[in-house]
Amino acid sequence: KRSTVKALLASQELDREVLVKGWVRTRRGNKYVQFIAVNDGSILHNIQVVADAEKFPEEDLKDVTTGCCVAIRGKLVASQGKGQTVEIQAAEVTVLGKSDPEAYPLQKKATSLEHLREIAHLRPRTNTFGAVLRVRHALAFAIHDYFNKNGFFYVHTPIITGSDAEGAGQMFRVTTLPPEHPPRTADGSVDYSEDFFGKQTNLTVSGQLEGELTALALGSVYTFGPTFRAENSNTARHLAEFWMVEPEVAFNELEENMDLAEDFLQSLVKYALEHCADDLAFLNEQYDKELLGRLHFVVDNAFQRLTYTEAVEILKAAKQKFEFPVDWGTDLQSEHERYLVEKHFKKPVILTNYPKEIKAFYMKLDEDGRTVRAMDVLFPGIGEIIGGSQREEDYTKLTTRMAEMHVPTDELDWYLDTRRFGTAPHAGFGLGFERLVLFVTGMSNIRDVIPFPRYPKNAAF
Ligand code: 4AD
Ligand code: MG
Repeated sequence: KRSTVKALLASQELDREVLVKGWVRTRRGNKYVQFIAVNDGSILHNIQVVADAEKFPEEDLKDVTTGCCVAIRGKLVASQGKGQTVEIQAAEVTVLGKSDPEAYPLQKKATSLEHLREIAHLRPRTNTFGAVLRVRHALAFAIHDYFNKNGFFYVHTPIITGSDAEGAGQMFRVTTLPPEHPPRTADGSVDYSEDFFGKQTNLTVSGQLEGELTALALGSVYTFGPTFRAENSNTARHLAEFWMVEPEVAFNELEENMDLAEDFLQSLVKYALEHCADDLAFLNEQYDKELLGRLHFVVDNAFQRLTYTEAVEILKAAKQKFEFPVDWGTDLQSEHERYLVEKHFKKPVILTNYPKEIKAFYMKLDEDGRTVRAMDVLFPGIGEIIGGSQREEDYTKLTTRMAEMHVPTDELDWYLDTRRFGTAPHAGFGLGFERLVLFVTGMSNIRDVIPFPRYPKNAAF
């Protein structure tokens, strides 16, 4: 029976026959003995395989090169070498898949992250991407675990939609019409009644609106799925395709929404610290010596809560010169967000009550008529990690706001039914999953925390 490297490294049972399969990271040695480092992805570390020259003449190991796939049978023994407690004394080495050492792009010497992005299909074979992908998995699991334990239901919202949930017009079109000669109506415009769905459709920018529908039936729900934005995502914080986690809770107001966001984020970071210690220690060592300290800090300290208006006052009084000037009513840039988090408060910040003009149509209007019950959670090194709000539950106020913002009410008539029939206060937020992975792994570019990133001029795989 095959064992994983993870199981073998943790094993107390020595001097037994084992079988392991994986990919060779390195082979080195001398004329008496060869050491083969094998990794199978189950854990950061390799297992060392010792092959005696008496049993394995050089000729027999010539195909055991970096990148090849091997099956090793042998005895698990205590290791004399430093850096590991156990190793395998090889009895049989079988090459399952050769790898031409001249052609294999991942040779032993470190390859830059930029270069690895160009060979993203092979990145999972590196220590760095193995670590990132394991942490990514752990966080996804922790998200489901958190919600399940707290009585939330996971709802699946559509990927193809007929409406723009954010009203920001940043959607990718989905169509089966022939691009060269699409059918036209009498006035010459494209006739979407001939299209697959009989209307214009897009890839979703958010599952929120469908999330609201289900929250006003099931109470506490969340979505966790891919979302798409055709915005200029040529930054280290944006992807054209990213995963979003969107809880929505009936009867919650802004305050409870903030409590949920804070507890949720702290629980996720804590889970990663507890379950990904090896991978995080490696990333801390390799890329960002302050990573572990920062993660513990977020878990141990309450987030700073303040209004947008208060934040603008702080920014205007700041000694630091900003590239973009701040004035009440302007949207905050990431330089402003990071100043508040990293320089002023030195902890995560939740900003609330933004001017209505810079936020989405569905946010609940404050009494002053100028601001809405929005909240953005800002994290060190990241800026906005969560965006959310209490929703406008009043039919008349909501439709008035939609008209003011030119959001088509006919397209969203189904959504308005929530306000027509048994409406209730409710609130929710969206966590950008890759921004969370970025924060927890300490990587500096969001393109390095998703296996197959999508960004302008890049959909290679
Ligand atoms: O602030 P956003 O646009 O909010 C919404 O979409 C709401 N419908 C959420 C809700 O209330 N249910 O996006 C939410 C989060 C952002 O805070 C950010 O973390 C992430 O999604 N995000 C992106 N992540 C990667 N690439 C992009 N292009 C992103 N755009 C938003
Ligand atoms: Mg936002």
